[in-house]
Amino acid sequence: MLISLKEALAYGEENNCGIAAINTPTFEMLVAAINVAERFDVPLILAHAEVHDPVNSIENIGSAMVALAKRSSAKLVVHVDHGESIEFIKRGFEVGFNSAMYDGSRLPYEENLAITKEAVKLAKQYGANVEAELGVMPGREDGKDSTTGIGDRALYTDPQLAADFVSRTGVDALACSFGTVHGLYKAEPKLDYDLIVELRKATGVPIVMHGGSGLATEEYRSCISRGVQKINYYTYADKAALEGVKKFLADEPDTYVMAPVTVAAQEAVERDLSELVKCLYNKN
Ligand code: 13P
Repeated sequence: MLISLKEALAYGEENNCGIAAINTPTFEMLVAAINVAERFDVPLILAHAEVHDPVNSIENIGSAMVALAKRSSAKLVVHVDHGESIEFIKRGFEVGFNSAMYDGSRLPYEENLAITKEAVKLAKQYGANVEAELGVMPGREDGKDSTTGIGDRALYTDPQLAADFVSRTGVDALACSFGTVHGLYKAEPKLDYDLIVELRKATGVPIVMHGGSGLATEEYRSCISRGVQKINYYTYADKAALEGVKKFLADEPDTYVMAPVTVAAQEAVERDLSELVKCLYNKN
């Protein structure tokens, strides 16, 4: 069933857990994410990032996301991730998404603020919630960007600006830069836990972690207990899919059709997401 982003985040706060937001650009990832949410009976966010639109458009995979979320027994949010334009976010709402992130983090402050306000106004027309981003997260979810910038404090979110930003835009959650990066880590992440506490206190809204792949259990738990209630996760799940496919092909070299390969991918994602869910929702 569909629930709102606000409801999912409230569950996270009440239960001291991080709500997983999983990018599902392929059908295998989508079914895997829903199966895991149902198996562990946890709320989860299905996300489609603009950068993944060339893989499957929001009209195609997004329609499947909305339809499967509605008929699932799990509580699911369907969310536009890293919308870089109002037009893309609108495409998501038209398909039935009930939440969106506008990402103007690379724009000058006032420009980010003005477009985020527009996103909030648009979302109201659809009864949807909005996440925005302040501070710069190195890397992207395209599987190729480097992760230079790890630990560069100049990119971290400033709590005073964050407070101003949230009160002037009215967003429901704020993605902040506090030491994670998108994609594979090429060096140890340098998480600033005190900064998370400051950001949560200054803004009054849940803090969102982008670049959720590749952290240790204690790192996730430490972030959650300090105010991170949404954890965006993609690269390691999709990497698990590819590794599952490679193993399947090595074990079954005579395979000459695609369908069983997609099953191997889905099962590998389910294994990876099960471990994540156990950690984020204290299901051990
Ligand atoms: P990772 O790909 O590093 O897990 O980050 C995902 C993300 O932040 C999606 O917005």
